Amino acid sequence: MKLTFLTILLILHTLNLFAKEDNSYEKGKTIYYANGCANCHGTNAEGSNYYPSLANKEQKYLTNKINNFKKGIATTQKQEIMFTFVNALSKDDIQNLTKFLTHFTKEDSDKYDVEEDLLGVDY
Ligand code: HEC
Repeated sequence: MKLTFLTILLILHTLNLFAKEDNSYEKGKTIYYANGCANCHGTNAEGSNYYPSLANKEQKYLTNKINNFKKGIATTQKQEIMFTFVNALSKDDIQNLTKFLTHFTKEDSDKYDVEEDLLGVDY
């Protein structure tokens, strides 16, 4: 009886660990590199003199921007190019993507094999 109870506890604990595992950063990273975001916003999401940097901006700010683009809302004509790029993103994609951008670390992206993921991901 005691053993069964412990086994159940162990199983519950294991399930809980799985439920808590948060791989949104990794998923977001894949979305960022597989959807060509890096082509304009940079491999390190650092931007350029023409394209805005996205790294380490507030998650809420980025989410609002992307959601607005999805609705066809832009504050400048230049931003309208973004409509095409966010069209296919789901709510989860946006959550993962912004998580990645908000917690961006340069060391991480330097090791990232962009080409491999471009070919390996099904979209
Ligand atoms: C062809 C180039 C291009 C690609 C590809 C692209 N963007 Fe953009 N992005 C832009 C331009 C241009 C703007 C608007 C710049 C401005 O407001 O002056 C922008 C703006 C943004 C903004 C708002 C940033 C801010 O601070 O206002 C976000 C967020 C963003 N892009 C995310 C993404 C994501 C995520 C992807 C990939 C799914 C992506 N972009 C792909 C060109 C691009």
